[in-house]
Amino acid sequence: MKICCIGAGYVGGPTMAMIAKQCPDIPVHVVDLNQARIDAWNSDNLPIYEPGLDEVVKEARGRNLTFSTNVDEAIAEADMIFISVNTPTKTFGIGAGRAANLEFIEKCARQIAKVSKGHKIVVEKSTLPVRTAEAVKRILSSSGNGATFDVLSNPEFLAEGTAVEDLLDPDRVLIGGESPESIKALCDVYAHWIDRDRILTTNLWSSELSKLTANAFLAQRVSSINAISALCEATGADVDEVARAIGTDSRIGPKFLKASIGFGGSCFQKDILNLVYLCEHFGLREVAAYWEQVVIMNDHQKQRFSERIVKTLFNTVSDKKIAVWGFAFKKDTNDTRESAAIYVCRDLLRERARLTIYDPQVPEKSIRAELTAACSDMQGQISENDKRLIEQNVTVVSDCYEASKDAHAIAVLTEWDEFKELDFDRIFQAMQQPAFVFDGRNLLDHQKLSKVGFELHAIGKCR
Ligand code: UDX
Ligand code: UDX
Ligand code: ADP
Repeated sequence: MKICCIGAGYVGGPTMAMIAKQCPDIPVHVVDLNQARIDAWNSDNLPIYEPGLDEVVKEARGRNLTFSTNVDEAIAEADMIFISVNTPTKTFGIGAGRAANLEFIEKCARQIAKVSKGHKIVVEKSTLPVRTAEAVKRILSSSGNGATFDVLSNPEFLAEGTAVEDLLDPDRVLIGGESPESIKALCDVYAHWIDRDRILTTNLWSSELSKLTANAFLAQRVSSINAISALCEATGADVDEVARAIGTDSRIGPKFLKASIGFGGSCFQKDILNLVYLCEHFGLREVAAYWEQVVIMNDHQKQRFSERIVKTLFNTVSDKKIAVWGFAFKKDTNDTRESAAIYVCRDLLRERARLTIYDPQVPEKSIRAELTAACSDMQGQISENDKRLIEQNVTVVSDCYEASKDAHAIAVLTEWDEFKELDFDRIFQAMQQPAFVFDGRNLLDHQKLSKVGFELHAIGKCR
């Protein structure tokens, strides 16, 4: 058995590294068109930051784990080919802003069809709209080389920041397909380290839809608690107390009830919009509207937070310095895709605030690129005004002390652990007075900070 994976991103890279680590008998070849990304996977400086990943890669790389740009060669040699390419939201044409752009998936399928000989198992790892496998199968079956294919769906449920843990000890592995032999072949790979009773098998469509549904349910929980946070701020209830109280109901459960400035990440919004698009496609208008509300609520939460900052700072942040702590969409990752911080920063910039941003893992280049994209329209056009604001009013610094010096306010946008351990007396002394903290993650010790002298504003808590 030889494995190849097309796409060395956040999903393909860590997943294949774990398979290679746990299955020393299986050669695993990860390929990507992006030479810089492949070079990084082959270096000591991996392209993604993920706790524990360095060790996993080091153990397997050079033994049975290879990264290269030799896409054709890797496909030709493999018995099993994972497709882990990106499926971003379409920005043009029919379904723009909602539907998934399946261009990269289709290109992979065509490439596989062109290069393959003999029999291959093709595994969809990327998150896809339900019934994508149908298109993949049709393209594969048009291969002129006499090759035969089985298509499986094996969605990845890992979360960023805990990818290694999630891969090592997943709640379940889901495999959808039609051919029992192919399903067994993939089960055998995972069974190297995962109990068979945690490997669920189902048909293709249920597997594809389960991934979208899982992400929609998780995002819905975050939007639900965030909706309640607004009511808490209005009524004097405390959202963390409400979450604790409802989380002890075993039917609800305690996880994913942390109120925040809104969910981010590459999956939640994209997958829900994709679900909404699918529902509309099948004429299910009410169902589409139900799920769309999860995204609407999330946008509202981000906007509510920046508005609260402006209102609290005496209705103007123009020319005020705001220290932004954290830019990643959650802690323990350098990923900024759809991070709520982007939109909060954009709105504050448009109010003419001066931002000093610090994130332990996100480089300045990514921060500027994200802000530029958030200020641009779908064609990538940005106004001169927004461009100037990003150039002149954004400074990226290398720690929280530097960020907060002379600031009027601190906005905590990512829940990095290191933010809890700072010298708050020192920070307070160096700030403009009154010194405000807007804790967008309910991360800090609010009592302690109030004692130091800060004026605190937190999500779902009234002052
Ligand atoms: C509910 C709450 O569960 C309980 O904690 C609260 O104190 C009162 O309201 P109840 O209305 O008695 O209790 O019944 P419940 O078991 O929650 O079911 C409510 C409705 O939801 C029923 O019609 C039930 O058939 C339906 N339901 C429940 C589903 O359709 N699917 C489910 O998975 C669960
Ligand atoms: C998610 C799913 O969890 C994972 O199973 C799927 O494979 C990919 O999408 P990920 O986006 O990496 O993973 O991170 P996740 O931990 O789910 O967090 C998503 C967003 O929700 C983050 O911005 C996070 O800060 C936010 N969130 C999460 C909350 O605001 N409150 C919570 O209680 C949980
Ligand atoms: P994900 O979060 O789903 O892993 P990423 O964007 O991090 O998404 O990674 C997807 C990777 O797939 C990118 O590195 C991209 O260069 C790669 N890719 C896209 N299309 C192809 C293709 N046809 N052949 C090889 N690699 C591809």
